[in-house]
Amino acid sequence: MIVTRTQEGKLYAKTHDPYFKEGRPKTYTDEQIQFAYELRQQGMTYKMIARKTGISIKTQQRRFKQINCLFNCLSMLYYEYRRIRKEAETMKIITFTAIKGGVGKTTLTLNYGDWLAKHGKKVLLVDLDHQCNLTTVFEKTRRDNTIAEAFKDDEEIQRVNIDNVAPNLDLIAGFIDLDVLGSRLENNSNKEMMLFMWFKNNMDALNLNQYDYILIDTHPDFGTITKNAIAVSDYLLSPITPSEHGYNAKFDLETRLDKFKKSLFDYRTGETYVDAKLYFIGNMIKHNTNMSRDLLNHIADDETVATVIPERELFNKATAKHASIFELAQKDDLVYKQNKKFLEQANQLFQELSNKVK
Ligand SMILES: Nc1ncnc2c1ncn2[C@@H]1O[C@H](COP(=O)(O)OP(=O)(O)O)[C@@H](O)[C@H]1O
Ligand SMILES: [Mg+2]
Repeated sequence: MIVTRTQEGKLYAKTHDPYFKEGRPKTYTDEQIQFAYELRQQGMTYKMIARKTGISIKTQQRRFKQINCLFNCLSMLYYEYRRIRKEAETMKIITFTAIKGGVGKTTLTLNYGDWLAKHGKKVLLVDLDHQCNLTTVFEKTRRDNTIAEAFKDDEEIQRVNIDNVAPNLDLIAGFIDLDVLGSRLENNSNKEMMLFMWFKNNMDALNLNQYDYILIDTHPDFGTITKNAIAVSDYLLSPITPSEHGYNAKFDLETRLDKFKKSLFDYRTGETYVDAKLYFIGNMIKHNTNMSRDLLNHIADDETVATVIPERELFNKATAKHASIFELAQKDDLVYKQNKKFLEQANQLFQELSNKVK
């Protein structure tokens, strides 16, 4: 009965689940094996590790061999990626990230991206949030040829399409089940390096070298998909807003990033594969509230805060019209006249940001 039900379930999954994989699940998770591996690196014998973790000597030897292969493979990948990136020396990859939602990641990706494009830079936006807000702004929502392809490791991988959405501005659409795809990668030892590999493999085919900036928008979390974005990035920009826990969010992200950096390193040189520099952006700052004043006091001498952006209804208005604030002002003379001063200020703030991420 159980066997029949299991087989039925498997058959159902096989026919209904595009990411179904055959095979026995691993007895020990990657984390358990990694812990054992670290003990081995510290000089413990297989026997001692077996006693401490319950992982048999045979399993240790087999899985450690896989790790060594993987490390060699990863470090080759890393150096190859760095070499390719060096050829496109001026290109910057920037990820907008925050553990909290609603702080302005998508708004800033869109507005900074369009500002750069309007200043003659060639920009590619990548929507890595399964909520696909950025993709929706440009009305490019779909299920095929999205960034999801970078996270599949089966034979049915399609090509990723790049849409031109404005002069100098391109987009790779997001995928509404990207989170599902991310959780399916859990047992994959390369799970945080998928985008890294994809960039390396597609740099020429998709002519990614042409871009001065690649801006990646992410979901409010620190999960597998977001870690993939962090691993390929030169800079991380994280908006913090005036709220009770606004400033704590800063420490939270710093701690998580530090941990991630330590988990992904070349074990021979001790060098981390994650070399993104983290900057914060004060966002939605009001001029007359205690919380805004508190936040401003906290970040006054903070070198890691790249710029501070006030709260302005214009951002909401522009997004609702599927445009950046600059695009909206260009199209609508009244908007331009009413917001002339703020548009000049925004111009300066984005310039300030660009001076940090160079
Ligand atoms: N500086 C700002 N002033 C006013 N509203 C803003 C500002 N930045 C973002 N918003 C608004 O806040 C809401 C959340 O922003 P969004 O970019 O979607 O956040 P996230 O991507 O971090 O979830 C949106 O309605 C957006 O228009
Ligand atoms: Mg968003």
